[in-house]
Amino acid sequence: MDQFLIKGASRIAGEVTISGAKNAALPLLAAMILAKTPTTLHNVPSLQDVRTLIQLISGLGVVIKKEGNTVTCNTKTIDNFYAPYDLVKTMRASILVLGPLLARFGEAEVSLPGGCAIGSRPVDQHLKAFEAMGAEITVENGYVKAKAPKGGRLIGCQHTFDMVTVGGTENVIMAAALARGVTQLENCAREPEVVDLANMLVAMGAKISGIGTASLVIEGVEELHGCEYSVVSDRIETGSYLAGALMTRGDVLTKNTDPVLLQPVLKKFEDMGATITTGGNGKDSWIRAQMTGRPKPIDIRTQPHPGFPTDMQAQLMAVCCLADGTSTIIENIFENRYMHVPELNRLGANIMVDGHTAIIEGVEKFTAAPVMATDLRASISLVMAAAAAEGESLIDRIYHIDRGYDDVETKLRGLGVNIERINPNKR
Ligand code: EPZ
Repeated sequence: MDQFLIKGASRIAGEVTISGAKNAALPLLAAMILAKTPTTLHNVPSLQDVRTLIQLISGLGVVIKKEGNTVTCNTKTIDNFYAPYDLVKTMRASILVLGPLLARFGEAEVSLPGGCAIGSRPVDQHLKAFEAMGAEITVENGYVKAKAPKGGRLIGCQHTFDMVTVGGTENVIMAAALARGVTQLENCAREPEVVDLANMLVAMGAKISGIGTASLVIEGVEELHGCEYSVVSDRIETGSYLAGALMTRGDVLTKNTDPVLLQPVLKKFEDMGATITTGGNGKDSWIRAQMTGRPKPIDIRTQPHPGFPTDMQAQLMAVCCLADGTSTIIENIFENRYMHVPELNRLGANIMVDGHTAIIEGVEKFTAAPVMATDLRASISLVMAAAAAEGESLIDRIYHIDRGYDDVETKLRGLGVNIERINPNKR
């Protein structure tokens, strides 16, 4: 298994270009299944999760290929509606092919994704909504088997999600786009990646109103055509690199990224004492974080958008570890998203967890140690902490980071981090 060898302490400073958002690219790739004619998607990040989903969609008989950061897809030759466990288990978001397959072809057999390090990750909300649209859902041998009602088309309905779910909202919007009649969805997720999906579906001919709000009205159409679209920038990758500046009295400028998508995080950065400046517009937008002193302590509660994003919790915790005082974090979205705590404590942090609450007593600095990555966002917080630590740290199981951070070593080296990828088995 690859490891990162990181020599600190570094001041994280420089410019970095942000890639397309992983959490937008995945639903957008799934949405390509809905199009009768070819689709082109630009600004697709080069990530393990993207490669896995492309492999899965290709397994449906679809002609899909990625050249650089552009993916082209033609569904004309699709010949099965089956998403196997061996792929789904490595990439939970594969469940997002269920809605498109069910909507367009009236049937699908997709492996249940199973849990992961941060939680059990059920998909009951997805299935409940599909049943409300007339689908017949059975779960057998770890697979979800879904069939549209007689006549092969889902039926538009009024449905309220029991809780805010990003993937559930995305799966159901895609299904409703081709349903017969109107679907009114309440308590929808409003994440920028959900907005990006809705915008691409509209470009494919879908009729969706209320985009960006918790109430969506989708008027089903007979078919959707292909389009040319570009993935929204990755707000979480942006926040991850900016957090490195706050940990090391650094100065990071992130390019090709939209400050509007990151408002809740930028506000917390300013509360911690960072100077945040933004500029440009559209594709040329940028965000800069400059830090001169020690971070101030803060309190954070993760919430669905537009609240503070759970995907930035581990990164902000790493900043709080160096704050001049006590910070508290309450993780409200996932039941087990504190796996990075014991690893940060190995680097010299002083964090105590009580249920969903983490209490972080700030320390002067991190000290190097061997640590283990446990999930995607924990990985980047450990990398940043190791870069800020005095001495040489070894981070194990960094395959987690390759799932969600495009070209991570190059980008980190460009920000002054002394990092090397090693594989102890390949001596
Ligand atoms: C998406 O996961 C993201 N992944 C996650 O990012 C992100 O943390 C999460 O949304 C919340 O913002 C992608 O977009 C690919 P949810 P998703 O459905 O859709 C519970 C990362 O690091 N729930 O909004 O799976 C669930 O267990 C990843 O990039 C149900 O109970 O998240 C969780 O506690 C991690 N039943 C909460 O809701 C359901 O049917 C939020 O889950 C669905 C979800």
